Amino acid sequence: MLGATLTSVPAAEDALDRHKAQYRRPTTIPFPANAPYSPQMATLGKMLFFDPRLSGMQHMSCASCHNPSFGFEVPVPGAIGATNKPLPRKAPTVLNAAWLPVLFWDGRAPDLETQAQGPITADVEMDGKFPEIVARLKGIPEYKAWFGKLFPRDGVTQDNLLTAIATYERTVVSGWAPFDRWVEGDTNAISPAAQRGFALFDGKAGCSGCHTGWNFTDNKFHDIGIPTKDIGRAKFDPDDPKAKFAFKTPGLRNLTYRAPFGHAGQFADLDAILTFYETGGIDRPSRSALMQPLALSKAEHADLVEFLKSLTADKTETALPNLPN
Ligand code: HEC
Ligand code: HEC
Repeated sequence: MLGATLTSVPAAEDALDRHKAQYRRPTTIPFPANAPYSPQMATLGKMLFFDPRLSGMQHMSCASCHNPSFGFEVPVPGAIGATNKPLPRKAPTVLNAAWLPVLFWDGRAPDLETQAQGPITADVEMDGKFPEIVARLKGIPEYKAWFGKLFPRDGVTQDNLLTAIATYERTVVSGWAPFDRWVEGDTNAISPAAQRGFALFDGKAGCSGCHTGWNFTDNKFHDIGIPTKDIGRAKFDPDDPKAKFAFKTPGLRNLTYRAPFGHAGQFADLDAILTFYETGGIDRPSRSALMQPLALSKAEHADLVEFLKSLTADKTETALPNLPN
């Protein structure tokens, strides 16, 4: 009898624990079999990620648009590339990219290696040419030595450079946030307001219909009804009527550093995007069935914002690499 009373948990608490469990952090990073992790490979990739010598004019690196200080993004609606004009889309974060099955807002790249090729050669981004970049890196003794050690067969090549960058990117993981400590059982790790916000997010507000799992994304494409001329996923999936204006659900970690929000940075802050969600977006054939006008009280709106803020890691420092001469 005593045992029965000790183990019985109130039903509501039990249900909450089940909901929380869906957001538990993984404990390992998935590395593909053909690009396994090594600290040396990740270090080489990090140098390359921060090295402007990968661009045509040697003035721009991946970090120019994916700056660790801003959650591996830049705080502007459209990042500025080699042509000095804002790009039509916002630079998404590199955080937790190891878990993304497809890359870019419209999912046009199948893996990080393929993805990294795009910005290096795009004239509106880094405007580089691989033969020139490879020759340049071969002329830098430290790079030559590193590539030689890690890729004994062929040293500095385009593919090896992309492998190293992708390996580094897979190590860029958002740190422990107050929300994670709450999920793991520290009941005071997030404020009562944030806890009410979680209940809304996972309940009445319907956010978890798309922002699922520990990184808060289903990695699928949805039209959420944002006014835009960009047809998004439809460019690659013209036969699916739901692909029009559909973009990949972004993860919601470290949002505090990553404003503005949305595929074109249309929303200045969390308040603005939540106000948009309350309208339900533009009612058009492609709009997701999950998008409907949402009636939130002022207090509920504030609670949801508090919850979103609790997904930002406590400590997010990135040491800059020393670049070889
Ligand atoms: C001029 C700014 C700029 C530079 C430089 C740049 N990027 Fe990006 N990056 C973007 C933009 C904008 C997008 C989104 C484009 C789209 O979805 O169509 C993007 C998308 C990405 C994504 C996809 C993330 C996701 O959630 O799908 C990754 C990963 C990435 N970039 C890594 C890199 C790497 C690695 C480099 C260096 C080799 C780099 N970027 C250089 C602006 C830039
Ligand atoms: C139908 C799927 C879906 C639902 C439901 C949904 N979202 Fe989103 N969310 C998306 C997509 C897709 C985007 C990117 C849209 C774009 O820019 O075109 C996005 C963008 C965001 C962003 C911006 C993130 C960034 O990196 O730019 C935030 C914050 C956000 N959603 C929070 C929420 C909240 C809070 C709710 C509930 C009120 C919610 N979402 C409901 C799919 C959804």
